[in-house]
Amino acid sequence: MDRKQLIKKYLEFFKSKNHKVIPNDSLILENDPTTLFNSAGMQPLVPYLLGQKHPQGKRLVNVQKCIRTIDIEEVGDNCHHTFLEMLGNWSLGDYWKQEAIEMTLEFLTNTLKIPKEKISVTCFKGDKNAPKDTESEKIWESLGIPKQKIKFLGRDNWWGPIGKIGPCGPSTEMFVNNIEIGNDVLMQYNKDEKGKYNLAKQKNIDFGGGVERILAILNKFKDNYLTEIWQPIIKKIEKLSRKKYKGNEKEMRIIADHIKASVFIIADGITPSNTEQGYVLRRLIRRAVRYGREMEIRNFTSKVAEPIFETYNDYEILKNKKKILAELEKEEEKFNQTLEKGLKTFKKVTKDKKELNCKNSFLLYQSYGFPLEMIEEECKKNKIKFSKKEFEKEFEKHQKLSRTASAGKFKSGLADNSEATTKLHTTTHLLLAALRTVLKDKNIIQKGSNITPERLRLDFSFSRKLTKEEIKKIEDLVNAQIQNSCEVKREEMSPEKAKKQGAIGVFDKKYGEIVSVYTIGNFSKEICSGPHIKNLCELGKFKIKKEESSSSGVRRIKAILE
Ligand code: ALA
Repeated sequence: MDRKQLIKKYLEFFKSKNHKVIPNDSLILENDPTTLFNSAGMQPLVPYLLGQKHPQGKRLVNVQKCIRTIDIEEVGDNCHHTFLEMLGNWSLGDYWKQEAIEMTLEFLTNTLKIPKEKISVTCFKGDKNAPKDTESEKIWESLGIPKQKIKFLGRDNWWGPIGKIGPCGPSTEMFVNNIEIGNDVLMQYNKDEKGKYNLAKQKNIDFGGGVERILAILNKFKDNYLTEIWQPIIKKIEKLSRKKYKGNEKEMRIIADHIKASVFIIADGITPSNTEQGYVLRRLIRRAVRYGREMEIRNFTSKVAEPIFETYNDYEILKNKKKILAELEKEEEKFNQTLEKGLKTFKKVTKDKKELNCKNSFLLYQSYGFPLEMIEEECKKNKIKFSKKEFEKEFEKHQKLSRTASAGKFKSGLADNSEATTKLHTTTHLLLAALRTVLKDKNIIQKGSNITPERLRLDFSFSRKLTKEEIKKIEDLVNAQIQNSCEVKREEMSPEKAKKQGAIGVFDKKYGEIVSVYTIGNFSKEICSGPHIKNLCELGKFKIKKEESSSSGVRRIKAILE
């Protein structure tokens, strides 16, 4: 079975169980300001998992592209990837454990024809926050999974929340030959700011299963890179390096993984930079280039990317092929230049010296992107002493720091539907409408949004700096709206109808069949997945703190509610 067949079968199966297919969202989540990338199919669904009504109903299914940088250290093994596709199905307060487990097992055994004898499962063993999940155990047993194949685990069988607060719960995981192929998260809890797990008002099911792993299992490969979605990329690397992939070539796996992730990140509008998503992208490309150098291949990133456009031609990446390849080449070239500079620095810091000290070796690693192996090689070549141990100590110190920093980013509140951010969401709609009015340009659209409890940040299409007078007018207009205390109305309709009614939206983006439209008086009408406040009287005084350029043709405003 190939990737496209697997996805089709999955969607068909859950459609036959009355699920509605929802779109595969962007890797960059507009309404989720606090994480860098979409890392799970449930991520865009948080408001609905918390009880907001979803326009498509209570049973949803999709395949979602995801980026997981948290596993980056493990990329290079046979089954962890930075970019992955996740099969997901959800019950939003509809079916519960019995039906969820029944459907999952039916899909695995009937549709995918995995023999039941090969399946083992795990359930949550219980802790101080939640009891042991004997209910799932009983369900699995009644469906023919023998007791000895049902294990109980602790936190391994707990999922979420991704952010500090939000929906979470025990999970039950399915394994085939000891490889996890999916899990049903039984979202029964809602973690609050104080760290307490409260029983949720709405019980949800969140199933997730990685396409890459399932494909490997179905085709009896122990290594994901042997499946049809990786082979064309691996073959290309083989050809360029004149080396063979025998199955354990970490460099080839890392190059293939990172280039694929980079293609999809660029396709969703990110370019290499030193901040946020752009920095992750930069590291992915540079890491690939580094490993390429070790295999003695140069100027290869765009060539390795070629086959990805064919394998994933059901995505709209082909449209941006030229731009994607150009960005890869540009970054590769830039890095090659830093590497050259790094080599010069190496010569300088080791001139007339017998040893490369740990501070300088770390400088080479950190600022010039030298891999450890390269530092070692360079030292050997020049008969310079180098203590790997010292370097590793320094490395660990820094890594711990950066790990905490990036983990913090992921933890800082994905599920942050707090009152403060909800208010700022609604304020962002007011701001966008005010921009269109004051700047007399109905073509202004949102290019990005990032909201923390403290402030909103809106990127919008406009080509020049705003004047002081314009900023003042925009503030006054938003504040006038707030003083009018208008109701925020939510309706459901087709994207076509919304467009006809003049709603702001990004219409080349794939919307579902039905969307939510938020209307504020005669002032603002926008397609959005929320969350929003009910009445403008809940808002404080609006103030713009900063107006600046974001990128060419895009301006950025940071604003607060006082
Ligand atoms: N959201 C769950 C996961 O990512 C299904 O594994």
